[in-house]
Amino acid sequence: MRRYCVIGYPIGHSLSAVFQNAAFKKIGEDAEYTACEVKPGDLGIFMRTFKKQYAGANVTVPYKEEIIPFLNDLDEEAKMIGAVNTIVNHKGKLIGYNTDAYGAMKALHMESRPDPRKLRVIIIGAGGAAKAIAFACVKAGSQVTILNRTVAHAGGLAKRLNELRVELKLPLFNIVTYGSPDDFNVEHCDILINATSCGMSPRENETPVDLFRDRSELSKTNFTVMDIVYKPLKTKLLLDAEKIGAEIITGDTMLLFQGARSFELWTGKTAPLEAMEGALRRYHQ
Ligand SMILES: NC(=O)c1ccc[n+]([C@@H]2O[C@H](COP(=O)([O-])OP(=O)(O)OC[C@H]3O[C@@H](n4cnc5c(N)ncnc54)[C@H](OP(=O)(O)O)[C@@H]3O)[C@@H](O)[C@H]2O)c1
Repeated sequence: MRRYCVIGYPIGHSLSAVFQNAAFKKIGEDAEYTACEVKPGDLGIFMRTFKKQYAGANVTVPYKEEIIPFLNDLDEEAKMIGAVNTIVNHKGKLIGYNTDAYGAMKALHMESRPDPRKLRVIIIGAGGAAKAIAFACVKAGSQVTILNRTVAHAGGLAKRLNELRVELKLPLFNIVTYGSPDDFNVEHCDILINATSCGMSPRENETPVDLFRDRSELSKTNFTVMDIVYKPLKTKLLLDAEKIGAEIITGDTMLLFQGARSFELWTGKTAPLEAMEGALRRYHQ
């Protein structure tokens, strides 16, 4: 039996085992996916046994960057993003990938939007997930702004993304800007993404930005709000967004697509999306 896991701390919130095991079962793969809680300071010890026991893994908070020195190589996109959420064990050689960027683009159905270059995307957060999502939006050519509680972290990410724009020879308009969540202005935004853990259970009353800060009545069309928090599925931010008529995208959508891409990297087979989605749906019922 091939063994896979998700590595993080804490790990109780992770839903990956729910749909990855459903996917393995669906395609008849003799494999098992479990959650591995690795305490801070124990990552080195864990990774020594990992190499011998596991065929692959997902990596979640807080190890997406810390894991990199334990890997033999990174794929180009993971290198550019500077964070890893998927490991493939190729005969003892550990290769790091990042499927969060792909997952976010699929969840935002970016490929079917008329002109991503005209979209003003505001991302709240500057951690591992924000890095991947921002990278994907910059690559799609959108106008990206990073707002974060610690503004210096937002500044660092914006600087790196602007360097990447030059490296990737992307059009030089659409400079990535940054600031604090207090700078958020709903009028200057087509897509808002919460890439922080703000609003996650048990702090469900919190929201990374208040959509009603400037006025109590608001209605906005052609506005998409995506929250990558998936516990609860409808965060306060998404409930507020619904009230103003925005399209909302819940965190399980990105979770599903990033997981499907990881599955394909591990198995070389097309991910059974319906079976994975069904398992998630049954979990939430
Ligand atoms: N749906 C999905 O597929 C998916 C994928 C990846 C991650 N996630 C979820 O996304 C969240 C972030 O993950 P990550 O890997 O980016 O974590 P991370 O690297 O630890 O980054 C956390 C980010 O959130 C900010 N933050 C944390 N608590 C906050 C609060 N109470 N108010 C405002 N900002 C806060 C941090 O700001 P500072 O810089 O100021 O510390 C930082 O920008 C987690 O809840 C994770 O479970 C979901």
